[in-house]
Amino acid sequence: MSLLKTLLVLVALATPPSAFGAVKVNKTQSAKVWAHLMPWFETKDTSEDGTWGIHWTMANRNPDNFIDGSGRRDIATHYYPQDDVYGSGDLAVIERQLNQMKYAGIDGILLDWPGTLPVWDYPKNKANCEAIISQLERMGLEFAIVYEDHNIQMAADAGFIDHSAKIPTAQADMRYMQENYFNLPSYIHQDGRPLLLDFGPQTFRSPQDWEQIFSVLNPRPVFFTLWEQMNEAAGNSAGEYAWLYVSFMLGLNNFYLYNPSPQKIGVVYPGFHTFYQDGGWPGPTWNIPHNGVDSFRQTLELALQHGHPIQIATWNDYGEGTMIEPTREFGNGFLDMLQQTLVPQYSSTGVFDTISELYKMRVKYASQKGVQAVLDEVSDALANLEPERAAEILKTIQ
Ligand SMILES: *[C@@H]1O[C@H](CO)[C@@H](O)[C@H](O)[C@H]1NC(C)=O
Repeated sequence: MSLLKTLLVLVALATPPSAFGAVKVNKTQSAKVWAHLMPWFETKDTSEDGTWGIHWTMANRNPDNFIDGSGRRDIATHYYPQDDVYGSGDLAVIERQLNQMKYAGIDGILLDWPGTLPVWDYPKNKANCEAIISQLERMGLEFAIVYEDHNIQMAADAGFIDHSAKIPTAQADMRYMQENYFNLPSYIHQDGRPLLLDFGPQTFRSPQDWEQIFSVLNPRPVFFTLWEQMNEAAGNSAGEYAWLYVSFMLGLNNFYLYNPSPQKIGVVYPGFHTFYQDGGWPGPTWNIPHNGVDSFRQTLELALQHGHPIQIATWNDYGEGTMIEPTREFGNGFLDMLQQTLVPQYSSTGVFDTISELYKMRVKYASQKGVQAVLDEVSDALANLEPERAAEILKTIQ
């Protein structure tokens, strides 16, 4: 066989026709629900230099140490991931997270994206983003980028780039997104234009800045700033998104009722309890109590009443205590509530246990190809919205 033919056969084998995947759940609500995802966690196995990523350590934690008899590592958070610490680019982790989202009725992710500058952990975080993005279409999930314009300011302040290069750097980021993300079937569009959020702006705070930055894009994005900031991109901003704030329900009510921006993205969150002080990092220390899953319930009910797209803040910001990903403290509580609200048809399937079990098996039998092939079938069944069949297949290897 010619080399070309061999390659074609290999590609055909490696890429099963998508009889699987792209099967979307039927939700009880028409509002889009997206989860804000952080791509910045690393274990010693997933990082490039064999050290723990800074988001598990902050300034002073050492995850090599176990702090009680329960297998809990010393990590920079008040909450502990139910399936333990992880690296964001690990495909088994991504499979678990995307399945959990899908079966909670989440439509996709708003991905915290570091930009293209080759400094600090940005390149690894970007690679993690792309590992996540590569799995979305198969899962029938969608995504948009949350741009971090502040990253460019920090790089300039640290001397990695000249201050005069900030706008060209942002333009390069835009071109990169246009060429690599906006054209994907999984990217979220509105009227043919890509959705783009900015966490701020914090660096580019005048309409002229954004006019220059977006001049390299065609079409221009449907651009959302944080609440109270769309004027900083006037002429190029479509609306605002709400975020966490100490005013909690009062601030959210004001946003939904009185904020004049033409389009809004609501926010749903479980509470706010940062680790910054204990972890030796700067950052806010105010608190919104979780009260079990009650703060989450309140913000979810309010957001659904108003019918805007919803951003869940967040999937996994452990440092700020805003994660809805399963933890020892809350179990599947937040996901169960979403599931009961959005996709109740799955609430008696035990699917979150199946997903967690699949993940444990992926880790336990990481080096056994035969077992992994069976687990791939479990994964396909989950992607294809057959949770009972997934559980049946899983039983064959227990
Ligand atoms: C969603 O609902 C439609 C209409 O009832 C149905 O045809 C379709 O099969 C459902 N899809 C799933 C994945 O349940």
